[in-house]
Amino acid sequence: MSARTVPFLDLGAINARHEPAFAVALQRVLRSGRVLLGPETEAFEHDFAGLCNSPHAIGVSNGLDALHLVLKAWGLGPGDEVIVPSHTFIATWLAVSLTGATPVPVEVDERTCNLDPDRVAAAVTPHTRALIAVHLYGRPAPMDALMALAHQHGFKVLEDAAQAHGARLNGRPTGSLGHAAAFSFYPGKNLGALGDGGAITTADPALARQLRQLRNYGSEVKYVHEMAGMNARLDELQAAFLREKLPHLQADNARRQALAQLYRQGLTDVPGLVLPVPDDDAHESVWHLHVVRHARRDELAQALQAAGVGVLVHYPTPPHRQGAYAHHPVAQAHLPVADMLASQVLSLPMGPTLSDDDVRWVCQQVRKACAELH
Ligand SMILES: Cc1ncc(COP(=O)(O)O)c(C=O)c1O
Repeated sequence: MSARTVPFLDLGAINARHEPAFAVALQRVLRSGRVLLGPETEAFEHDFAGLCNSPHAIGVSNGLDALHLVLKAWGLGPGDEVIVPSHTFIATWLAVSLTGATPVPVEVDERTCNLDPDRVAAAVTPHTRALIAVHLYGRPAPMDALMALAHQHGFKVLEDAAQAHGARLNGRPTGSLGHAAAFSFYPGKNLGALGDGGAITTADPALARQLRQLRNYGSEVKYVHEMAGMNARLDELQAAFLREKLPHLQADNARRQALAQLYRQGLTDVPGLVLPVPDDDAHESVWHLHVVRHARRDELAQALQAAGVGVLVHYPTPPHRQGAYAHHPVAQAHLPVADMLASQVLSLPMGPTLSDDDVRWVCQQVRKACAELH
């Protein structure tokens, strides 16, 4: 047991950097007397739309509601099919189920952990109304091929960008790549609030207007309800905090990219260890998570925890094997890639406040643990 430890994620250190700015933001909100749908939300929406190079951003309560609201606005319901990745956080699937539509899982490419367009093409049916492309772990999904399929078959594409604020595909940011995109500001995300939060981006003005109503009981004018909406607003305080953090996102993402490079240098040729696919000219990942694979993942995780390295698994059980889908036909689906990934993926420490030395030390611990397992 070593005295040194590196936590998986040091949220305290991440947010401590913004403490004086948060205090000013809090005071601004307190003095404004506005706590919902006020100037902070509007200003944040403007700034976040800029980051995404998207004409519209709509602040909402969290990432799950962001996904759900878009599918609801598109009118999805029972009998409709929505293609989803077999390997993702369950919220991607739950958003579909909340509308009454059917999630249709498609196996991901095991190298990138993102959707495989060839497998998507094989899963399209006359009932396919939409596809959710998750930019998993911060790496952009193959949107060009997915959008081409969408145009060919006439379905909508929703980006699940919960893990990919600021990531780019051929220079274009996530949030501008599909028909709409859903973001989460869950505290641990690359852009995290001090509580729950989310946003939707879209270039479609009619959809943007509808979403503004849907997040607010279906209302544009107080006590006039044009549609059956929800209460799914981003609050002023979270918007104010997010406004303070947003200008630092690019630098934080660059730091994550540098750490991913260090991991690559420190972990090349480790027996039994599969490294995440590196960026190429087209894909710029923002490394929300740094995920390696090992056939004896649980033993490796145990050894690393014992050595003082914080690790997590994203995600240990695929959605189709969760109790939430136990009574759904999808529970019988044969999804060997999802099963394999759930048993092999391991997330190493990653975050903008980690030092180079932290990552080099983690690499040493990983090398040692893998050598002992080999
Ligand atoms: C891929 C993905 N989709 C959706 C969500 C849901 O976001 P939230 O936790 O804000 O509801 C998350 C994060 O939690 C996520 O990682």
